[in-house]
Amino acid sequence: MPKLWMRTLSTLSLVVAIISASSILFSSLAPTARAISTRPRLPPEFSVPPSQAVDYVDPLIGNGGDSPNGSGGMIPSTSPPFAMTRWTPATRRNYVSVTPYNYTDDAIYGFQGTHQPAIWMGESGQVTVIPGAGEVRTGWEESGMKFSHATEVVSASYYSAVLEALEGGSIIAEQSSTSRVGHLRFTFKSTSTPYILVEATRPSVMGSADPTNVTYPSGSVSISTDSVVEISGYNPERQDFIIGPNPAPSFAGYFCVRITPLTRGVSLSSFGTIQNGTNFPNERTRNGGLLSAYASFSSPPSQLLGEDVVLDVRIGVSFISVEQARANLDKEIPDGTSLETTAEECRRAWAEKLDRIRIEDEGASELQKRVFWTGVFHTLQYPYEQDEDGRYYSGYDDAIHEGQSYTGYSIWDTYRAEWAWQILLAPERIPGMVQSMLQDYVEGGWLPMWKNIVETNIMVGTHADSLIAEAVIKGITGFDLGLAYEAVYKDATVPPYDDWNISYYDREENVGYEVRAGLSSVYNTSGYVANDIHSESGSRTLDYAYDDYALSLLSAHLAKSQPSSASPNPYSLNASHFLTRSKLASFSLFNDATGFMEARNADGSWAGPDEGWTEGDKWAYTFDIVQDVEGLIERVGGKEKFVMFLDEHFDGGHNDHTNEPSHHIPYLYALAGSASKTQERVREIAFSDYNDTVNGLSGNEDCGQMSAWYIFSALGFYPVNPVSGEYVIGSPLFEKITIDLPASSKPLVITAAGTQSKPYVKSVTLNGMSLTKPIIKHEDIAHGGELVFEMSGEPEEWLAGNVATVEEQVTFHEEL
Ligand SMILES: *[C@@H]1O[C@H](CO)[C@@H](O)[C@H](O)[C@H]1NC(C)=O
Ligand SMILES: *[C@@H]1O[C@H](CO)[C@@H](O)[C@H](O)[C@H]1NC(C)=O
Ligand SMILES: *[C@@H]1O[C@H](CO)[C@@H](O)[C@H](O)[C@H]1NC(C)=O
Ligand SMILES: *[C@@H]1O[C@H](CO)[C@@H](O)[C@H](O)[C@H]1NC(C)=O
Ligand SMILES: *[C@@H]1O[C@H](CO)[C@@H](O)[C@H](O)[C@H]1NC(C)=O
Ligand SMILES: *[C@@H]1O[C@H](CO)[C@@H](O)[C@H](O)[C@H]1NC(C)=O
Ligand SMILES: *[C@@H]1O[C@H](CO)[C@@H](O)[C@H](O)[C@H]1NC(C)=O
Ligand SMILES: *[C@@H]1O[C@H](CO)[C@@H](O)[C@H](O)[C@H]1NC(C)=O
Repeated sequence: MPKLWMRTLSTLSLVVAIISASSILFSSLAPTARAISTRPRLPPEFSVPPSQAVDYVDPLIGNGGDSPNGSGGMIPSTSPPFAMTRWTPATRRNYVSVTPYNYTDDAIYGFQGTHQPAIWMGESGQVTVIPGAGEVRTGWEESGMKFSHATEVVSASYYSAVLEALEGGSIIAEQSSTSRVGHLRFTFKSTSTPYILVEATRPSVMGSADPTNVTYPSGSVSISTDSVVEISGYNPERQDFIIGPNPAPSFAGYFCVRITPLTRGVSLSSFGTIQNGTNFPNERTRNGGLLSAYASFSSPPSQLLGEDVVLDVRIGVSFISVEQARANLDKEIPDGTSLETTAEECRRAWAEKLDRIRIEDEGASELQKRVFWTGVFHTLQYPYEQDEDGRYYSGYDDAIHEGQSYTGYSIWDTYRAEWAWQILLAPERIPGMVQSMLQDYVEGGWLPMWKNIVETNIMVGTHADSLIAEAVIKGITGFDLGLAYEAVYKDATVPPYDDWNISYYDREENVGYEVRAGLSSVYNTSGYVANDIHSESGSRTLDYAYDDYALSLLSAHLAKSQPSSASPNPYSLNASHFLTRSKLASFSLFNDATGFMEARNADGSWAGPDEGWTEGDKWAYTFDIVQDVEGLIERVGGKEKFVMFLDEHFDGGHNDHTNEPSHHIPYLYALAGSASKTQERVREIAFSDYNDTVNGLSGNEDCGQMSAWYIFSALGFYPVNPVSGEYVIGSPLFEKITIDLPASSKPLVITAAGTQSKPYVKSVTLNGMSLTKPIIKHEDIAHGGELVFEMSGEPEEWLAGNVATVEEQVTFHEEL
């Protein structure tokens, strides 16, 4: 979702520059991207079980890029899979379109527990810990400490860098974390007296579309020095708060920071609060904006002078209360736990997931392995855990509930391949993730579209329908199926508030749930969303057509699995109704005169070839009927014409892999009997749009979708029509990949001998049976098996002329 916040991008950088003066100024000296291969992964003293997979993860991949929309938007965070808080060194203030760490910067200001799930999303409830020495710096601008990338150790579980302390000497900063607790350790070498400053609130661009409209969220700090030194408080900042229907009025990120000197004889020497640049020594509590609190420590006693001072800092984080933040701290990183232990546990958590996959390929490059494993690391970060000890804060109804919860759902992006990948590799997480969406439905009235704490209405379509249908069809249980059906059915049948009068343009403020804007005007009757009434109408039309298809498939599945005494089965009626509507909508925009999709106005007239698209153009969207590729091929004029059309799309430079609407397009060749061209294009993209430099993702990661494309492509198949449970065959990137599927007693083994030099496919067998279509089904690999590719150096006629009919669709159509 590279979402250019058009009206405001340039002014935003201005504000950022004002707020965080120095970091921007230095950044024009951007270092050129370089491979990060030689960087140490962990200090040698860490004894941890070996995991090659985790060692290949480079969290800096995807941080850079020439602009926010050309950046992966990833940060060197060191938190476990799906962690509630991701800890990262902060080199600048993060906002919508700005990440907290930017590789071009040369100073670290602090270490931030961030909840910003993607670059075009806002931050919420963050806390930042700033180490320093000597006189306490009262402002962020003065706290930046120079560092060099050469001193950085960056891994999935541990980060460290040497910071130049402001009054001389240096501070070695180390970072790791659990899901709800950050763990930092600072070693002060030849510095003045050390201090730790905790920033609760800062200037914010609070969700307003006008970034010069800076606000000052009001939080709280409190210092306790009884038996331990603790700085606690909260921060209500939520940058997306004005978009979306749920104000989440009592939302806050609570924190409890416990600071423990690890050096003998070092103790607390002073403390205080700071507000807007003014230091209030000895003050224990304060509320308001621009608020921090600090604790300073003595130097070592005279007999130990010259020794380093080491401060251990643990930060419990909560969305419920300070008490809960403290409980999280005591539970996840109890007193006496070393940073080494935290980092080891974090590494184990990553190894537990990543070691489910093994790559054996002598010929594979280090670059390929780094890109692959870092991709897997990226796909297992979002959505993130939002529950604490079995309870969670819901911003939908502003109350605390019992249960599991997740947030950070970029569904317009992730329904394409990220969800299929999570179902394959981490199925144990899926029931909780679905149940969490159902809770959102119960508490807010609708399934999420882009949930960042609450609904933000960003992007279009109700693709939670696809997520749920896909999970059900792939046999995932453990959530309330009746409720799930009710919620998906509501998406398809109930229009948003004042549907005829609100355009629901991107980030429109002060409107209700966007859901299927245009359902009443005139999608339901005419099969398209009217461009003169609604924004992004062309994209909406095609997205709704897919969502209707997802509901019809879910209904057909339930008609089979939940027989009813009623005849006909009500699920079958729904299956057929929504399939009919989906078919109408799929082709309602196809303009035979131009051969492209084109948005329409309410009166049926064409709106113009460039109207009504979001994050794509007429090229990408004309190929956007994954649920009926056969129908599309026919409409374009048959296989031959379709393949020529694809050639024109790619050769004319229209395929934009940096954005999601293009992701499935290279796989369409195979469905038109031209599999070797899929194989070529997929390889080209895998090499041109992914590498192991900081710039190594050509587009926004979008909660894992960019990497999910790479991973599936590396395996040799891709979920073009995700809800169908089918994958289209491509060209595997490794000679042998073994996946220990958690829900299966046998692994899935994919072999492709010689694939490094032979990109083309000659034949494929699944469990000994030759494929007769370039398609495999989820159920045929979900319980393990052997997928064997016979590779070739030349384009092969494999299945040429054999138009793939999507199996599920056929049976489904026959039954209706
Ligand atoms: C990183 O900083 C550079 C220089 O200021 C800027 O051009 C780039 O857009 C930034 N990247 C992100 C992801 O914010
Ligand atoms: C990305 O942003 C740059 C400006 O920052 C713009 O020129 C370019 O068109 C954008 N690309 C996309 C795909 O939105
Ligand atoms: C500034 O933003 C706040 C909330 O983000 C909004 O309530 C207020 O109207 C905005 N002020 C201006 C002058 O735009
Ligand atoms: C912070 O202090 C400056 C200088 O005294 C003042 O101009 C500004 O209004 C203050 N900001 C806030 C948010 O109180
Ligand atoms: C749209 O707004 C007009 C008044 O602005 C109102 O008369 C009409 O009823 C509204 N339409 C719907 C469908 O709510
Ligand atoms: C959609 O059309 C059906 C009839 O085909 C009707 O029953 C239903 O109320 C309509 N829904 C909306 C949202 O207009
Ligand atoms: C479709 O499902 C809904 C929700 O379960 C149900 O109320 C409705 O009766 C079904 N539609 C038909 C035509 O049976
Ligand atoms: C890495 O990939 C990015 C994004 O596609 C690209 O801009 C850059 O040129 C590539 N760098 C190298 C060294 O291949």
